[in-house]
Amino acid sequence: MAKNINTLLIHGGISEDETTGAVSIPIYQATTFRQTELGKTKAGYEYGRAGNPTRQALEALIAELEEGIEGFAFASGLAALTTVIMLFKSGDKFLISQNVYGGTFRILDKIFKNFGVSYEITDTTDLKVFEKKLKEDKSIKGTIIETPANPLLTITDIKAVAEIAKKYGVTTIVDNTFMTPYLQKPLLLGADIVVHSATKYLGGHSDVIAGLAVIKDKDTAERLKFFQNAAGSILEPFDSWLLMRGIKTLGVRIDRHIENAQYVADFLKNSGSAQKVFYPGFKDSQGYEIHNRQASGAGGMVSFLLSKEHSLNDFVKNLKTAAFAESLGGVESLVCHPASMTHASIPKEIRDKIGISDNLIRVSVGIEDKKDIVEDLKQAFLKSKI
Ligand SMILES: Cc1ncc(COP(=O)(O)O)c(C=O)c1O
Repeated sequence: MAKNINTLLIHGGISEDETTGAVSIPIYQATTFRQTELGKTKAGYEYGRAGNPTRQALEALIAELEEGIEGFAFASGLAALTTVIMLFKSGDKFLISQNVYGGTFRILDKIFKNFGVSYEITDTTDLKVFEKKLKEDKSIKGTIIETPANPLLTITDIKAVAEIAKKYGVTTIVDNTFMTPYLQKPLLLGADIVVHSATKYLGGHSDVIAGLAVIKDKDTAERLKFFQNAAGSILEPFDSWLLMRGIKTLGVRIDRHIENAQYVADFLKNSGSAQKVFYPGFKDSQGYEIHNRQASGAGGMVSFLLSKEHSLNDFVKNLKTAAFAESLGGVESLVCHPASMTHASIPKEIRDKIGISDNLIRVSVGIEDKKDIVEDLKQAFLKSKI
């Protein structure tokens, strides 16, 4: 099988139905499978929560794309993260990077804390501080990083973090939602587990909520398989199919997202309406060299601080092509206000400390005509002048 990612996106995993030859894996909308005799199945399937052929095709695909040994599909990105965190036990602690998605913070802060799993937030871009924490606190058993991180697009050195973590017996979990395996493969850089909100670029059309996890060692894969079935937050067959359909065009979509995002970021920089623009494609952006070492493109996300001459509400109210909405990674441009939307579950004092200020705006640049996206921003800037 060819190893080029553009070919794997279409032919990777189980890309053809063995029984019929259908080139799109059928949606096996079945909850249970006839067993031939005691303890014997026809093709390894018993009950849909434990395994379904459509879901299995997707799981094989993401495992191949991320170059792990086994993939798992869940009902959402947070279901994937929750189930991965369940691999740990009471007394264990997580060190999480300071710009992780608000919901990741929330499951640790509001749910796992009650079960004796604690967490601490740190700046994972500072490797000295990161190592010091692992050295001093032996209860740290896992670290969760995002790079580029949500929403300031800060870059963490995956290889360096994974190397340090390994030294202290700590599991490295990378949320690869923003990059996807098309641009970045954390397992090849030393991470142990990759998770995705597949709701975003992998699905790509803002029509499916899904989560994925990929494991690179047999023991953890067996444990996660058990937890996936036991806790039960699996992805249903139709959504598994939608996700596979989305993944087929990931490469062409991401290429266009990057082209458009660079165009939008350049416009914002010179617009006079943004105090500061965050985009990993800028040569002077934080971690530029590290990002280019570990990823093959800057991605489709751009964030900026709206200058004081504009009313935030008037700006978002007047957007026409871009939708003012949560989420990212779809074909349509989406604009969000992290402080009141994606990161609202993080207390204001922590938000201020980590730079998620009230005038921060995040743009998920879609694949529309890039000039139309910029025209839309321009007119919204004009209408929001104070
Ligand atoms: C980086 C990142 N990780 C995880 C999640 C959670 O995923 P989901 O909404 O699919 O549960 C999100 C959602 O916005 C996200 O942006």
